[in-house]
Amino acid sequence: MARTVQIFDTTLRDGEQAPGCSMNLQEKVEVARQLEKLGVDVMEAGFPAASPGDLAAVKAVSAVIKTSTVAGLCRALEKDIDAGWEALSGAVRPRIHTFIATSPIHMEHKLKMAPEKVLERAVAAVKYAKKLCEDVEFSAEDAARSDPAFLCRVFEAVIAAGATVVNIPDTVGYAIPSEFGALVSYIREHTPNIGKAVVAVHCHNDLGLAVANTLAAAAVGADQLECTINGLGERAGNASLEELVMGLRTRKDILDLSCRIDTTQIYATSRLVSQVTGVKVQPNKAVVGENAFAHEAGIHQHGIMANRATYEIMTPESVGIPKNRMVLGKHSGRHAFEERLADLGFQLEAKAVDEAFAQFKILADKKKVVSDRDIEALVVGSAATVPETYILDRWVVNSGSSLSATSTIRLKRKDGSFSEQVAVGDGPIDAAFKAIDKIIGKEVELESFELGAVTGGEDAQGGATVKVLYDGRRWNGHGLSTDIIESTIRAYIMAINAMEWELSATGAAKGSREMEKEKTGV
Ligand code: KIV
Ligand code: ZN
Repeated sequence: MARTVQIFDTTLRDGEQAPGCSMNLQEKVEVARQLEKLGVDVMEAGFPAASPGDLAAVKAVSAVIKTSTVAGLCRALEKDIDAGWEALSGAVRPRIHTFIATSPIHMEHKLKMAPEKVLERAVAAVKYAKKLCEDVEFSAEDAARSDPAFLCRVFEAVIAAGATVVNIPDTVGYAIPSEFGALVSYIREHTPNIGKAVVAVHCHNDLGLAVANTLAAAAVGADQLECTINGLGERAGNASLEELVMGLRTRKDILDLSCRIDTTQIYATSRLVSQVTGVKVQPNKAVVGENAFAHEAGIHQHGIMANRATYEIMTPESVGIPKNRMVLGKHSGRHAFEERLADLGFQLEAKAVDEAFAQFKILADKKKVVSDRDIEALVVGSAATVPETYILDRWVVNSGSSLSATSTIRLKRKDGSFSEQVAVGDGPIDAAFKAIDKIIGKEVELESFELGAVTGGEDAQGGATVKVLYDGRRWNGHGLSTDIIESTIRAYIMAINAMEWELSATGAAKGSREMEKEKTGV
């Protein structure tokens, strides 16, 4: 019978750590709910000691997730483990994940610690974590460049100290599959008590080999495979969950491994993560890219029509890509709309469906055909929002080649009052953002701004993603409208609302996630 491997998703931690991928608390909770629906065994929700925002997000995820284990990353330090436990203790299945580097280059130049001291610190951290939490994962950072014999000593000691999972990361994506498989086999053979722990692997994609290395490790006995949605993660990213899981499934004949993922939720999860982070999926990305199941060449189309298996090794339906269906437009009813939402993987409360349906009707009045992409954008844009401190009431922007751009924006506050401001800017967007900054009384820095058409066609909606920085922390916002200036203003207001809400929920910013990342060294 096929061996079952566990899928450990770290989109909310390693994925979120990557530049431009940050998510606010609400967005993390929404992604976490979808990961649970996808069936991940473990989700790493964040790095609680990194910032008060991270701690609050791990706590919020821990409070809502019922079936998956929720893990939090901690350096091998008591203060990190304390923060980790503060965030995780409300989870049904909490796991403290502690780590320290074991490669010569990291020990000498980053940690400035002798190997014996590293071993001692690893054991002390696991013992400390074990007093708080039954389930403790230990990672030997940069394992792929560590001395295999030293790794075995460290793993033996941390297992004796109570580690339930030992992880072998290829932190810098340096290994090649035959080598990485051999390392996992060596560790399994030379660590006397390895049978008492789950053996995990965590591969980065610097050479484009993260999935191949993970599969090579799975083939020789790794029990837990760490990965992220859309392959997000530090630098070139981590092993992509969708590629890994479909690799296991499609080549079960060779690998004889199974996992608990509901593959029909893969596409919806990929779309959600892309929408929430604003990081687009490349068109030729395996499994979830726009072209993954597109057949352009005549000879291919002919083959596909005769028998899909001629050019498709898996079906679009198996990963949850919706089939071509009836188009939705202004005459479509609530029932058809709700069914489409379910097909796209969205399960909304009745009130949220009402709101989404009302917006759908407004959109359908402007556009002849409302596509699945339009619906996704509409739902994701509204589902991840926080209570609104400001609502866009009206806006006017003037711009041209001979005059400075000016804008007048009126926002409604949550107490029902209105505030209006006028600003001059370097272009229409700058003028609009400056007017909003005047209303909120804060100077917010625009980190990045992206605008794209949600679908093709002249009546396409403009989808905007804005990332703003304030007091060293970052927030994202998404906006949607058939008018591109309005979608950008909406995105900015959504980011401001996320900021206001999170600052009031977690207290004043205490330093940026990026700055903390430097201090914490991951
Ligand atoms: O890549 C890595 O080594 C990590 C560890 C902290 C698990 O992300
Ligand atoms: Zn990593």
